[in-house]
Amino acid sequence: MCGIVGYLGNKNTTKILLEGLKELEYRGYDSAGLALLNGEDIEVYKALGKLENLREKTKNILNNSFELGIGHTRWATHGKPTELNAHPHSGQYSYIVHNGIIENYKEIKDSLLLQGHKFISQTDTEVIVHLFENINNKINDPKQAFKDTISKLKGAFSILLVTKADPNKIYFFKNGSPLIVAKGNEKQEFLFASSDAPLIGLAQNAIYLEDGVGGVVSKEELEIFSDNYIWSILPTSKQFAQKNGHRFFMEKEIYEQGDVVSDCMLGRVKDNEINFDEIDSSILDGINEIKICACGTSYHASMASAYLFERLSKIRCNVEIASEFRYKEPLLTNDTLFIVVSQSGETADTLEALKMAKNAGLKTLVVCNVNNSSMTRVANNTILTRAGIEKGVASTKAFSTQTVVLWMLSLYFAKIKSSLSKELLQKEIQALSQVPKVLVVNNKLHEKTRRLSKRYLHGHGFFFIGRDVFYPLALEGALKLKEISYLHAEGYPSGEMKHGPIALADPELFTIALMPKNSLYEKVKSNVEELSARDSTICSISPLHFELSDDFIKTNDRDHYMLEFFEMLVVLQLLSMEISIRLGNDVDMPRNLAKSVTVE
Ligand code: AGP
Repeated sequence: MCGIVGYLGNKNTTKILLEGLKELEYRGYDSAGLALLNGEDIEVYKALGKLENLREKTKNILNNSFELGIGHTRWATHGKPTELNAHPHSGQYSYIVHNGIIENYKEIKDSLLLQGHKFISQTDTEVIVHLFENINNKINDPKQAFKDTISKLKGAFSILLVTKADPNKIYFFKNGSPLIVAKGNEKQEFLFASSDAPLIGLAQNAIYLEDGVGGVVSKEELEIFSDNYIWSILPTSKQFAQKNGHRFFMEKEIYEQGDVVSDCMLGRVKDNEINFDEIDSSILDGINEIKICACGTSYHASMASAYLFERLSKIRCNVEIASEFRYKEPLLTNDTLFIVVSQSGETADTLEALKMAKNAGLKTLVVCNVNNSSMTRVANNTILTRAGIEKGVASTKAFSTQTVVLWMLSLYFAKIKSSLSKELLQKEIQALSQVPKVLVVNNKLHEKTRRLSKRYLHGHGFFFIGRDVFYPLALEGALKLKEISYLHAEGYPSGEMKHGPIALADPELFTIALMPKNSLYEKVKSNVEELSARDSTICSISPLHFELSDDFIKTNDRDHYMLEFFEMLVVLQLLSMEISIRLGNDVDMPRNLAKSVTVE
């Protein structure tokens, strides 16, 4: 996720902005920049890579005085990480920093190009500042021009804009992505930031802006264009702030899944259609099957998507663990679309599998969270998951955004191949659009998993069982538990238990049963009854009460199995985390694990 900072006051603007961006580093970024104003003089500095590079570029002006400034760290979603694509973006006399995604940037850009505007970056952000100037050039009223600009934007946009047309002010607006405005401890001082960490120590009172609220600030006045705001007291601990008040980054990342999945769908699910900026229908030209390679959690997301590609797109699909694929002397044919799925884009086995497919002349696509990673540079096509940086080693929001991208892709392919009726396609898209809401953590549910976790701190092992897409979900639940609690757990197709594993059934064997209403419920139920009959301890997760379960986590009654999938995912993530917390483990940095496995 991008980071925004702003300062207006009598202190050292450059220093405050650089320190503010430093506090936002935890959000992940690939470039950074500043715009500094003194009256009508504007100086802009941008750098690729780490903040140190920006600090190096600004070291000679560090003690110059600037009345105000805006700064930005960029996590690339539209356009590669380059200096040109780094923020602030400029028009003729204005500069902007932006966090979010402008869904209708293409239409706006086309119209402005026709009016003679020149663009130098590949970003969606750049259209905002040109749109602002296009309007202001006609009405010569920056405040009204800012308001009119905002009214024409669709999507998620939290922005700071400075302009020579109104040189002593910062214009701001919040929609989708977070933005805070704070009153500085000194007089005539205001600060902005995407999260409260950069503000701590510099301000006490702040407004956590609500969606649709904006305004303009000068040394004399903070003007807000609506009355929908309240002043709050900022936290005093930066560590607490970086985790948005959660105990661990993993917990923060579980809680932000609804938001990042919304970002992931922005501009892709629109007017009941699925479209990707990054690919077009020719990607399926000459393709008869899909092969997916991945590792770990990404492999589980890939497995779940195989059911969707075959069921919805009617394309044969198989999924392989990358470390196995590399050495099996695979048969590769160029009617295969080769997809790799990876949060980091750096996993050695997955990268090598991708290179093998590329060298064999296959069409390749990577579903990835990090732009400009190795895999995005090798694959013919990239679709970014837009999950923002994932700090917890145990993957959470990466999995949910990967699964959403792959579900969207299966529907996109279904549209190209007309493999689904219009009604069925609409039903699928309707369900897909509800995923962000389903991923919002219900506090009662979280409390339930916290209470239950005390019962699952020992035992000689766990089986996580499910059918269909709930089998990969069971694998993912088992991996989460293993990774952060160090307890032994296995994911298994529930229909397979009677082919051997049921020999382990006894009260010390904990079975977490995924029992969705909309997918083979009766089949799973009978598998679970077999286990219960042998005195296995059963925790069932289901919208339907199951009298034989020793523990029961009730989920909501949904009308689509994939909505049950995402709701059960959150249950599994929270349960594993709460067990790990009780065991006193390091939830964010579990023993023996690395966030990205760049070696074989
Ligand atoms: C998942 O919780 C783990 N962190 C691990 O299995 C991870 O999914 C795997 O190493 C693949 O990483 P990637 O998605 O970055 O390729």
